[in-house]
Amino acid sequence: MQIYLDSANLDDVKKANDLGVLDGVTTNPSLIAKEGVPYTKRLAEICKVVSGPVSAEVIATDFDGMLREGLEHSTIAPQIVVKLPSTLDGLKACKAFSDRGIKTNLTLCFQPLQAMMVAKAGAFLVSPFIGRLDDIGQDGMQLIRDIRQVYDNYNMKTLILAASVRHSNHLLHCALSGADVATCPLKVITDAMKHPLTDKGIEIFLADYKKAFG
Ligand code: E4P
Repeated sequence: MQIYLDSANLDDVKKANDLGVLDGVTTNPSLIAKEGVPYTKRLAEICKVVSGPVSAEVIATDFDGMLREGLEHSTIAPQIVVKLPSTLDGLKACKAFSDRGIKTNLTLCFQPLQAMMVAKAGAFLVSPFIGRLDDIGQDGMQLIRDIRQVYDNYNMKTLILAASVRHSNHLLHCALSGADVATCPLKVITDAMKHPLTDKGIEIFLADYKKAFG
């Protein structure tokens, strides 16, 4: 499974990239708002650090506005993926971008039919939000499994990018459920390499070695 960082923080992008296993980055308007820097400037900075796909979300909610903003974003760097909401206007914009050879990420997907529709419109990525479904008492991971089944039934090529991943148990179950990509905060990525018995094991090995050889 590919792993993307879900952040617009440049330090986090550098730290995740330094681990050597980062496949891409996703951003959104809330994440960029936390940074207090212009969106275009930050996207360009991220694209200098990371060579994989970098999702740049539009603010517009109408077709013409999405097209205008997405085209602007796509000039920032070759790896920019235009991120669009999973709405009817987003669907039309997805088709328009895919006809132009521009990759898209259809975000805020909360039911499998949205994923089926955006795949038909040529989306490169679809972003089902696990955590936000869990927040309202639904099973976010079931959405990943349902989309996997629909895509496999019809050999649809859109990549399932599991989003709103909040902890390492989510990350594990994304991999078990067949997500193609999971986008996570830095902590979820680093937590994937942590186990108390690993730390304890190192402690014991070092103590034994010191006892024997000083
Ligand atoms: C995905 O592209 C979104 O940026 C993100 O995963 C949203 O996660 P949240 O629900 O934790 O805000």
